[in-house]
Amino acid sequence: MDLKRRLPILRWSVWRMAAGNRNITTTGQIGDGREAAAVEYVLANARAGDIDDVLATIDKFAYEKSMLINVGDEKGLLLDAAVRRADPALALELGTYCGYGALRIARAAPRAKVYSVELAEANAANARRIWEHAGVADRVTCVVGTIGDGGRTLDALAGEHGFASGALDFAFLDHDKNAYLDDLMSILDRGWLRPGAIVVADNVRIPGAPKYREYMRRTQGELWNTVEHKAHLEYQSLVSDLVLESEFLGPASS
Ligand SMILES: C[S@@+](CC[C@H](N)C(=O)[O-])C[C@H]1O[C@@H](n2cnc3c(N)ncnc32)[C@H](O)[C@@H]1O
Repeated sequence: MDLKRRLPILRWSVWRMAAGNRNITTTGQIGDGREAAAVEYVLANARAGDIDDVLATIDKFAYEKSMLINVGDEKGLLLDAAVRRADPALALELGTYCGYGALRIARAAPRAKVYSVELAEANAANARRIWEHAGVADRVTCVVGTIGDGGRTLDALAGEHGFASGALDFAFLDHDKNAYLDDLMSILDRGWLRPGAIVVADNVRIPGAPKYREYMRRTQGELWNTVEHKAHLEYQSLVSDLVLESEFLGPASS
């Protein structure tokens, strides 16, 4: 394997990304225009209407041009398998970024409506262009907001997009790592998850979601059945990461 692919420290875009860490938490972007560049690259190089080619072109950009914080090709395989296991009609992603994760969900679940909640309007605009190019814009929707915004986004999902009791089959948590647990609790409070629904959480080791991991361990076999998948952080094979795949066993009996 190409050494730069394996060892991210050899890549300038990775150092630039480390410097842009503060930007990611405030604007949802690295701060050097790489996300907009990725969209232009996809539109110029990927076959329109070909989901496989759009995803492969985003991966190529992330390996060869600038590192992106998509779930990536390696952990993406775990995401694909979990989606197929859930066979969703309705799927929710938290954290859209450039639209890559939602596109993988849409590919693995061809009959699903996919909703992705994103804090940054600029990321929503980028993702919509990519979904349009891939030919899935009719069933993949970005909702700008956060689950923690006092009910505005939750109400929009319920009122405008059909989120109702037991309607949600699959969720992918890939946004603010400190919000994973609270946001899952808010979704649980709404009663949207059906028994048997699958929740996948990325980056549980790096940057890390320790409260979420601890909760899943504590409720193992009662509320959730969780498998911890070892993998690597996106687009390299040096730093390891954890993806949690949790099956919802049903509402706790009172
Ligand atoms: C790691 S990226 C998501 C990658 C995407 N899931 C994929 O695989 O292509 C994290 C994204 O979450 C967004 N974000 C951060 N905090 C958020 C929050 N509380 N709610 C929704 N989105 C958030 C960021 O703006 C960023 O676009």
